[in-house]
Amino acid sequence: MSEIKSVAIAGASGSLGPHVLKALIDANFQVTILTRSKKPATYDAGVKVIEVDFTSVESLTAALKGIDGLVSTVAGTAVENQTVLIDAAIAAGVKRFIPSEYGTCTTSPKVKDMPFYAPVFKIKQYLEEKAKAGELTWTVLACGAFSDFLFGGSMFLDFANHKTTLFDEGDNRISITSMPNVGKAIIGILRNFEATKNKIVRTSQAILTQNGLLKTAEELRPDIKWESSKVQASVILKEGLDGLEAGDFSMPVIMKIVTGTAFGGDIYGCAYDKTDNELLGVNELTEAELKKLVADKLV
Ligand SMILES: NC(=O)c1ccc[n+]([C@@H]2O[C@H](COP(=O)([O-])OP(=O)(O)OC[C@H]3O[C@@H](n4cnc5c(N)ncnc54)[C@H](OP(=O)(O)O)[C@@H]3O)[C@@H](O)[C@H]2O)c1
Repeated sequence: MSEIKSVAIAGASGSLGPHVLKALIDANFQVTILTRSKKPATYDAGVKVIEVDFTSVESLTAALKGIDGLVSTVAGTAVENQTVLIDAAIAAGVKRFIPSEYGTCTTSPKVKDMPFYAPVFKIKQYLEEKAKAGELTWTVLACGAFSDFLFGGSMFLDFANHKTTLFDEGDNRISITSMPNVGKAIIGILRNFEATKNKIVRTSQAILTQNGLLKTAEELRPDIKWESSKVQASVILKEGLDGLEAGDFSMPVIMKIVTGTAFGGDIYGCAYDKTDNELLGVNELTEAELKKLVADKLV
């Protein structure tokens, strides 16, 4: 029996948040949304929405009274600030905290010393300390790349222009999960309170490579000729790290770090050969489902 009945979500209005919110509502949890500012008509009338100050433990504690589980899907830029959310969760007696992380390689020790990834490690360490003191339990969900983004963007395969820039030889492996399935996995965490206590759990609906996906696309549409070039993931990563060190925090620099690691394959542990899919209730994509995802991009 899950000990979690009431769940609060922070960051429900973003990209991932609405999928997690839907999963929580569908699973019949009593849901409370914590938001920086209420936007009219954004949520179902039945859902409780509380405006909070994410920099104030007092404001957050008041909003979290009576809440069993807290799911954070706040923006990447707000990840580091989750210490305030954690302190408030403890003060309010929240039993389980799921931090905003949802990474591809964020659980790999190989990225620990890269400044861009420092906030997620800081939060994990903070949670470990609190759990050790018996104040709170936590679960980190590693989910690979959001497939919605991977198929919607052009970085992995540019379906719109039939172009691809292969990272290394195009065989680097990466786990993917759709955002609705990240929501499903979160329900799996909340329903398996003991089995997911104070640990990292992994979900992955498929492990893809650029070459594998390209082959599927070519089999489905032999009439389409793809233009392909190559780039070294390590070079892209170094450009990003150098840029950051030089004080350039722009999106192109950040994206070089993200792609240089996420598409760096097994070096950064981006393909999960072992998952917690069964425990979390997430199904792997069948070959037919994967083909359909590609086919839908080729129309
Ligand atoms: N694995 C992947 O492929 C992948 C891809 C993208 C993102 N992610 C991760 O998924 C998580 C969610 O990302 P997202 O793209 O959904 O985020 P997002 O859309 O950028 O933002 C989510 C919500 O966070 C809240 N927020 C923004 N700034 C905040 C602040 N300073 N303090 C508190 N809340 C703030 C906002 O909600 P309110 O305005 O309602 O407060 C916002 O709508 C992040 O951890 C991100 O790194 C993973």
